[in-house]
Amino acid sequence: MSHTIAIDGYSACGKSTLAKAMAKQLGYRYIDTGAMYRMVTLFFQRQSVDIEDEGAVAGALSGLEVDFVPGSNDALLNGENVEAEIRTLTVSRFVSPVAAIPAVRRAMVAQQRRMGADGSVVMDGRDIGTVVFPEADLKLFVTADLTIRTDRRLAELGASGKAPDRAAVAENLTERDRIDSTRADSPLKQAEDAIVLDNSALDLSAFIERGMALARAIPS
Ligand code: DC
Repeated sequence: MSHTIAIDGYSACGKSTLAKAMAKQLGYRYIDTGAMYRMVTLFFQRQSVDIEDEGAVAGALSGLEVDFVPGSNDALLNGENVEAEIRTLTVSRFVSPVAAIPAVRRAMVAQQRRMGADGSVVMDGRDIGTVVFPEADLKLFVTADLTIRTDRRLAELGASGKAPDRAAVAENLTERDRIDSTRADSPLKQAEDAIVLDNSALDLSAFIERGMALARAIPS
């Protein structure tokens, strides 16, 4: 079986944990599209690209290659492993305005479609079920309470040795959700045929099992 599974939802709601676990169990490729927008953001920051300047954005995009390390799935920006750097709050603060730029979205969506063209893929993001793969075999829309999402993101940042401030993390999640949901080009929204998975009250294994049960039920 070669299915395409689209997982969308708000920031830090557990999408990528679910997507990774499902891809592993199904033997599918996992593609973290948020990491792609984060790599673009890091590149723009490093190059001091003025994101209001369309020419500068187009020029920067032509000098940028985003990919993933086979096996580990670490983020690769022009051949450099930037997995740790793209997860910092510095990148998180700037990523939503960058991801709202139509030229950036066009480039990333085209690459995502190429990466997923052969199926057997679990892709997570904000517009996978609505724009990237509207014909996906299974669409999940993941949600969780903001308090829970903030706790999880804090734990992640803490584990990687950063000293996180709770209010700053909560504010970043809320602000990103606001920008991601209200932008003109492919805003975050639930596809009509997506199945909602609220994991606020689910432990990790129950959450993954819900997703897997839905994947096993995809008609062949
Ligand atoms: O999933 P994440 O938090 O790593 O995503 C980072 C940002 O990238 C998110 O705030 C919005 C943007 N994004 C997007 O616009 N479209 C996607 N398919 C994935 C992410």
